[in-house]
Amino acid sequence: MSASEFDPMLLSTIDPRPRRLSFDRVGAGRGGGPPEPSSLGDKVYKFDSYHMSHATHVQALDNLSEFIASVSGARAAYPLVNGTTSGNLAMVLASVQPGQKLIVPRNAHKSVLGGIVMSGAAPVFLQPEISEELRLVFTIRPQQIQKALQEHPDATSVLVTNPTYQGFCLDLAEVKRVVQEADAMLLVDEAHGPHFSFHDGLPMSAMKAGADMAVQSTHKILGACAQSSVLLVGSNRVDDHMLRMAISLIGPSNPSRLFTASLEAALRHITENSLLDQVLEMCEEARRRIDAIPGVRAIGRDIIEKSRSVVDVDLTKLVVDVSGLNVSGYRAARLLHDDYGVSAEMAGATTVTLVVTIGNTREDIDRCVTGLEQMAKRLRGPRVQTSQLLHILALQTPPMGRQVLVPRAAFFAKKIRVPVPESVGKISGESVIPYPPGIPVLVPGEEITPEIVEYLTSVRRTGVEIHGSEDRTIGTLQVVDEREFLHSVGGGWS
Ligand SMILES: Cc1ncc(COP(=O)(O)O)c(C=O)c1O
Repeated sequence: MSASEFDPMLLSTIDPRPRRLSFDRVGAGRGGGPPEPSSLGDKVYKFDSYHMSHATHVQALDNLSEFIASVSGARAAYPLVNGTTSGNLAMVLASVQPGQKLIVPRNAHKSVLGGIVMSGAAPVFLQPEISEELRLVFTIRPQQIQKALQEHPDATSVLVTNPTYQGFCLDLAEVKRVVQEADAMLLVDEAHGPHFSFHDGLPMSAMKAGADMAVQSTHKILGACAQSSVLLVGSNRVDDHMLRMAISLIGPSNPSRLFTASLEAALRHITENSLLDQVLEMCEEARRRIDAIPGVRAIGRDIIEKSRSVVDVDLTKLVVDVSGLNVSGYRAARLLHDDYGVSAEMAGATTVTLVVTIGNTREDIDRCVTGLEQMAKRLRGPRVQTSQLLHILALQTPPMGRQVLVPRAAFFAKKIRVPVPESVGKISGESVIPYPPGIPVLVPGEEITPEIVEYLTSVRRTGVEIHGSEDRTIGTLQVVDEREFLHSVGGGWS
């Protein structure tokens, strides 16, 4: 096959329509985000194999690490080419040993559970606050962490997600205080906050709050290539040797030069230009206009009053409440995409989240708000929520099942598939995460209770999206085959 006949499947999925607007992670290929795609042009693949001696490459990576640390207020930094996913894995592996306890929010990203499986840690889960009105997940409170640390004095580390996907921030300074008081380590999944260090009008960054480690997805907001993230080390408590071993265990031995160069370009671009001023101004204008649309409103700092856990909000994330129209957030996001050419980052039961980045322009904002205005005009009418939405809103997450096995033991155990009604009393072999609200009902190793089965049966009726579980229709569950488990692992249940 000649090169000209080569038709990569992935390229054919790129939307050919020229001006579809994206309000999701920016990557490097959109306007505003370095490196300028046109300046790389078809050299992009050549750049990836650009000749450099091994020593020069190692030195270049060391220089890059120093540069990232200096602009991020960190003691040390590591460029990552496997996303924040790999950073979370490394952070957990480097801080928690088999059987040690790690305090985490129940809705932590799946890579955190990945780290728990790999390290053999015993998770202590904290339920995040859920807004009753919007069915949106807020975050966790320092008091919850303090209580968990008192109940589990042997917990060595606490990992928090800050900000959340929607930009909700917990009281990080207070979290740091309670974690330090208990002599534990504070790890922050800051995937959605790589811009916090670069503007005073944004919430407090993990490094500023004194976190021991944090991981950021530079690619989501600051325009590095997809998968390009950074791991930051804030304190001397981190075992550098252990961390380097964990990173090398998880990362490739030949990190993409394109990705690492894009990290440098993105961070130089943000430190040398006041790009975030414009993003914040655009968002302020968008909020004003969205709030003027009947039936629609943009959630802002007002949410702090209504929440017990949120103390700050990243205003570059436009969380639009569409519950005043007769649609769910999912339907609104679909209409915005299909009929008005605007792609949102994510949708929930009542909201659509649009992430405004350095890749967006004032014209983008204008087209996005105009799309919302037209959609609202079309949908407005007496407020009748569909029965499906009412059912979704009525779902109440059941209490967590008892942790019988640590997730690692459940992950490696032999499993069988059983119909959901027959799973009561068995040990889950997989995660089950309904969206909304995006909080796991089960993680591997937990006992399946009658309340969980009842909840899953209701979830099934509503058609809510299921993540984690192999059977997305949630008719069956993977459970641990207890007899096989006893034989193969020698009878240990923890
Ligand atoms: C909170 C959180 N952490 C980690 C990740 C993983 O990030 P990455 O895509 O950089 O691996 C995500 C992905 O969306 C996320 O939402």
